[in-house]
Parts: sequence; structure tokens; C-alpha cells
Amino acid sequence: MNNKKTIFGIIAFTIVILVYLSTNFYQQQYTQSPYSKEPFLINNFQTAEDCSTCHPQHYLEWSSSMHAYAFKDPLFFAMNSKEQDYHKNKGEDLGQFCIACHSPIAYVTNFIPQPDELTFANSKKLPTQVKDGVSCSFCHVTIHNSETPNVLTKKSMFNVVKYHLDPGNTMYGSIKDPLPNSFHASKYNKNFSTSESCLPCHNLFVDGKNAEITFSEWESSKYKTSNFPCQECHMETYEGFAVDPKLFPKAKKRYNLHRHFFAGIDEARTAFPHKDLQRDEIKRLLQQTANININDLSIIAEQNTINFEVEVFNRAGHNIPSGATFARELWLDIKVISANDTIYQTGFVNENNQLYDFSIDPNNEIDPDLVIFRTVFYDEKGDSGIYKTSAQRMTKKSDYTIPTFESFRKNYRINTPDSSDSDFKIIAKLKFRARSPGFIDHLGLKGQVPYSDTFIVDEKIVQFNSGGLLSVVSDE
Ligand code: HEC
Ligand code: HEC
Ligand code: HEC
Ligand code: HEC
Ligand code: HEC
Repeated sequence: MNNKKTIFGIIAFTIVILVYLSTNFYQQQYTQSPYSKEPFLINNFQTAEDCSTCHPQHYLEWSSSMHAYAFKDPLFFAMNSKEQDYHKNKGEDLGQFCIACHSPIAYVTNFIPQPDELTFANSKKLPTQVKDGVSCSFCHVTIHNSETPNVLTKKSMFNVVKYHLDPGNTMYGSIKDPLPNSFHASKYNKNFSTSESCLPCHNLFVDGKNAEITFSEWESSKYKTSNFPCQECHMETYEGFAVDPKLFPKAKKRYNLHRHFFAGIDEARTAFPHKDLQRDEIKRLLQQTANININDLSIIAEQNTINFEVEVFNRAGHNIPSGATFARELWLDIKVISANDTIYQTGFVNENNQLYDFSIDPNNEIDPDLVIFRTVFYDEKGDSGIYKTSAQRMTKKSDYTIPTFESFRKNYRINTPDSSDSDFKIIAKLKFRARSPGFIDHLGLKGQVPYSDTFIVDEKIVQFNSGGLLSVVSDE
């Protein structure tokens, strides 16, 4: 009896120690200095504005980016509240999950102990370092790369993002021979030129399943083997000065500085600096995204039909779309015109600018051929779509994105009016917007946050008649 008690006691004691050690280990990874073991404090980090005097160009570009907007976006706060409530009702604690990637400095300093009370209004009182979102003094104190965060829903473990930081006086970066300055020490770190440095936030697994996996997509593409990291496309190189040469006349002209716009598809939808510059970057990037082609065109006069194939080829460094694919809409807008009449169309929108997808037209009657490239998440009840579920409570997903260097193909067979000797025109567009208007409405932000604009990624127009092809027009 006594023996059993002792053994039980030893086991219990060991478990307590193990749990203590594991939480302590986990804490070490993200809340303490690796050198002094002191907890990180907000004043270990500088504001982005602190860097602006000496690095005006880096500051200007970053200040227009979604990294700078990550903790200023009203959508972020609306979604955080919704998700906090959802988990609270289930008896779970979502904790710092959303804050971890959107304001990593708040996360590592545990600055927002009640994330369920966080709102757009009360966020304004937080220190600038927190509101700066993914900021200079966060990225440039990172000393090691991280692994993919994996949410464990059964254990209610949501705070899974890990960073390896050394905040303080030293700025780490990709300059091997930095000119000394009075504000900070500088140290070269090769990680800054790797995709792995973007990984902790641009890759997310839930219970071991892919949720948002831009990094993994890149990793399994030819871009990895040809040593072409995220930075090649999202931080283009240019020549100039890393610091204001008026302040540092001895600074060298450098030939491999990096743009800090971090453009993708999304843009600030409320007042924000340099929106025009950010938009130019988005447009530049979208030109490198994908090609649309119209192949195998034929008119079968006896059957009064036109046949053709539409092909979309992905040239981006990961699937298109990527990341928050459940929120994105990349789709085919195709029209066939005979004389001046539209005889066929797909990918059109209603009076609220919404596509006829399964959430609006569940029986798929209005636009049966609609093709949207995105993912659809399902929760444990089998409910699907962005109005019903979100990344961290996804149990299954359907993936309709296009992998790198792969083509999507679809055949169209269109009935023509009798006069098949007339001229026909096919207009095929690949359109893209950061999110559907319905999503903004769903978050209760209708009228407060403008809807995302739609961009045309690529376009092909062909004119033809039964005699053959008359012309091909492309936007490039
Ligand atoms: C693992 C890091 C990570 C976590 C955790 C995370 N996000 Fe994000 N979030 C991102 C990234 C990266 C993007 C950029 C979009 C992309 O990847 O395509 C983003 C984009 C967004 C956007 C803008 C895009 C859109 O959907 O319109 C919102 C809003 C947002 N996140 C809210 C949240 C909320 C709320 C949570 C918590 C439930 C959360 N995020 C958790 C990394 C994260
Ligand atoms: C007093 C002026 C000054 C301020 C303020 C300043 N820097 Fe610098 N920084 C410099 C100079 C000078 C260099 C060296 C540039 C060169 O050699 O071309 C530099 C270099 C860097 C490098 C490159 C380090 C390397 O070895 O790769 C990074 C990263 C950096 N700074 C980040 C920051 C960040 C982030 C801030 C704000 C928290 C900041 N700096 C504030 C002057 C400054
Ligand atoms: C998301 C992380 C991230 C943020 C935020 C960020 N940087 Fe950088 N920065 C990088 C990376 C990565 C590189 C190196 C890219 C490479 O070598 O491929 C870099 C390079 C630099 C350099 C070296 C010169 C150059 O252009 O390559 C300086 C200086 C610098 N950043 C300053 C800043 C300042 C100032 C801010 C804020 C206004 C800032 N960075 C925000 C990731 C970031
Ligand atoms: C600390 C987390 C973090 C790191 C590290 C990070 N990002 Fe981000 N990134 C985010 C978040 C969060 C967003 C979305 C902000 C929003 O939309 O509110 C984002 C947005 C973006 C976007 C715009 C996406 C869109 O929706 O259009 C691009 C592009 C991007 N990041 C590229 C990079 C690259 C390249 C690196 C590595 C050099 C990097 N990021 C490192 C958190 C991070
Ligand atoms: C070969 C160029 C290239 C490389 C390499 C690349 N990207 Fe992109 N990225 C693009 C293009 C083009 C887009 C615009 C199309 C799109 O949104 O998918 C984009 C879009 C994005 C977006 C917005 C995604 C969306 O659809 O919402 C994010 C986030 C992003 N990239 C992050 C990354 C990260 C992180 C890496 C490295 C792991 C990376 N990219 C590597 C070209 C590239």
C-alpha cells in the first residue's frame, strides 16, 4: 500500500517537474532574453519612428505596408473579438493567438493580458511599439529562424508561435560591413536573406493539418531548389544608401538594398500613409502572378457551338492565392459576345458586388460555371466557408488554389445563336480581390470599412469567326 503511494507520489512529482520544465522551456523561447534570462519589456523595443531619421527610405516603404497595418486594421479587431467569443463559449481560451503574428512585440512582452477585451477603440491607447504591428525593431532583433506553429485544438493550445529574439541595442541585418552609428550596434545575420525568416507568421498548421502555408508551398516549389527566397519577389533590390547620406556622408553606396513594401494583394482600407505607392507595388507584383490563355478554339457550325479551353498558369512563388486563401477571391470572369450581344458569361457580380458562390447561391443555379481559386474551411460540425469558420478551428479544407508552375484548365462549350457566320469575341479575365464584400458585412463593418477593390491579374481577348482567328489582344 505504502509502496504504491510512494510510486504514485514519485510519478506525480515527476509530472509536475516535467510540466514546469516544459512551460519554462516554452517561455524561454519567446518571453525572455536568451542571454540575461530577463523577461522582455516593452522598452527593449524601439518604435519604427525611432528609425525614421536615419533610415527614411526603409521607414517610408514599411509605413505603407500591411506589416505596419497589421495592428491598425479594424477588420483585425472585429475578427479577434468574434473568435475570442466563439472560443469562450466553448470553454476554451484563444489567448494571444491573433496577437502573436499581428503584434509580435505585444505577444513577447505579454502586454495585452486580456485579449478578449481588445477592441479597435481601446487599442489606440496602447504603446506605439505595440501598434506598430510587424515592425522594424521586431524583425531586426531576430537571431534564429523558427519552426511552423501548430495549433493543438484538443489541448486548447493556441499560443504556439515562437520567436528567437535579442531585443536591445543591436540591430541584426544583411549588411556585412555596416558603418558604426551612435544609436545601435549592427550585426550581420545570414538568416535575413532566407525564406525561413518569414516562416513563423507565414505558415500555420492546425492539429498537424495545413491551414495557411505560404512557406510550405514555396518550399515544395522550384523556387526553393533554385535558391529564390520570398525576399526576391517581396523585397526587391535597388541601389542607394541604407542611411540618409546627409547624416552619414561616409556611408557607402550599396547595390543590394531591399524594398520594404511587402506588397501582396491586400491594402489598407482606412486612412494610411503612401497608399498610392503600395498600390503601385501591388500592381507590379500582380503582373508577375499568372497568365491567362484561350486555347483550342473551334466553331462547330452544325452544332451551333463554340469550344475553347481557358488556361491559367501560376508564376508566383507559392500557390495562388496563398496564405489567408479562405478570405481571398481570385476568379475567372469570362464573356462571349456575338455581334453586340453577350451570349455567355461567368464570374459576374450582383448589385452588392458579390459573386454567386455557394454562400449566396447554394444550388449553384445562377452562375453554374463559376471558378474561384481559394480554399474552403470546414469546422467540426461540417459547416463551411468564411462566414462559418476560421483558420484555427478548421478541421478540414478543400483546396482550389493553383500550385507554382502549374496550370488550371477548363473547357467551355457555348451554344451560339443561329447566325454562326458572325464575328465572335471572347473576353477572359483573371480577377483578384483581397476579400469578398460579404465578409466585411458579416463582421458588422458595412459602411465603416470600404470593400476591397478588384484587380485584373491578366486578360486575353480573342476575336474570330467561322473563317478563323481575327485577332488576339492581351494586356501585356
Ligand atoms: C501564424 C500567424 C498568424 C496568426 C496566428 C493570425 N494571423 Fe492574421 N494574418 C497573418 C498573415 C501572414 C496575414 C496576411 C495574409 C496572407 O497570408 O495571405 C494575415 C491576415 C489577416 C487579416 C487581413 C486579411 C483578411 O482576412 O482580410 C486579418 C483581418 C487577420 N489576419 C486577422 C487575424 C485574426 C483575427 C487572427 C486570430 C483569430 C489572426 N489573424 C491570426 C498571420 C497570422
Ligand atoms: C543615428 C542613426 C540611426 C538610427 C536612429 C538607426 N540606425 Fe540603423 N543604421 C545606421 C547606420 C549608419 C547603419 C549602417 C549603414 C551602412 O553601413 O550602410 C545602420 C544599419 C542598420 C542595419 C543593418 C545592420 C546589418 O549589419 O545588417 C539595420 C538592420 C538597421 N540599421 C536597423 C535599424 C532599426 C530597426 C532602427 C530603429 C529601431 C535603426 N536602425 C535606427 C544608423 C541608424
Ligand atoms: C518583416 C520583417 C522586417 C521588417 C518589419 C523590417 N525589415 Fe528591414 N529587413 C528585413 C529583411 C529580411 C532584410 C534583408 C533582406 C535580404 O537580405 O534579403 C532587411 C534589410 C534591412 C536593412 C539593410 C539594408 C537593406 O535594405 O537590405 C535595413 C537598414 C533595414 N532592413 C531597416 C529596416 C527599418 C528601418 C525598418 C522599419 C521602418 C525595417 N527594416 C522593417 C526584414 C524586415
Ligand atoms: C511577426 C510575423 C511576421 C513575419 C516575421 C513576417 N510577416 Fe509578413 N505579414 C504578417 C502579418 C500579420 C501580415 C498581415 C497584416 C494584415 O493584413 O493585417 C503580413 C502580410 C504580409 C504580406 C502582404 C499579404 C497580403 O495580404 O497582401 C506580404 C507580401 C508579407 N507579409 C511578406 C512577408 C515576408 C516576405 C516576410 C519575411 C521577410 C514576412 N512577411 C515576415 C506577419 C509577418
Ligand atoms: C517568384 C516570386 C515570389 C516568391 C519567391 C514569393 N512570392 Fe509571395 N507573392 C508573389 C506574387 C506574384 C503574389 C501576388 C499573387 C498572390 O497574392 O498570390 C504574392 C503574394 C503573396 C502574399 C499574399 C497572398 C494572398 O494571395 O493573399 C503573401 C502573404 C506572400 N506572397 C508571402 C510570401 C512568402 C512568405 C514567400 C516565401 C516563403 C513568398 N511570398 C515568396 C510572388 C512571390
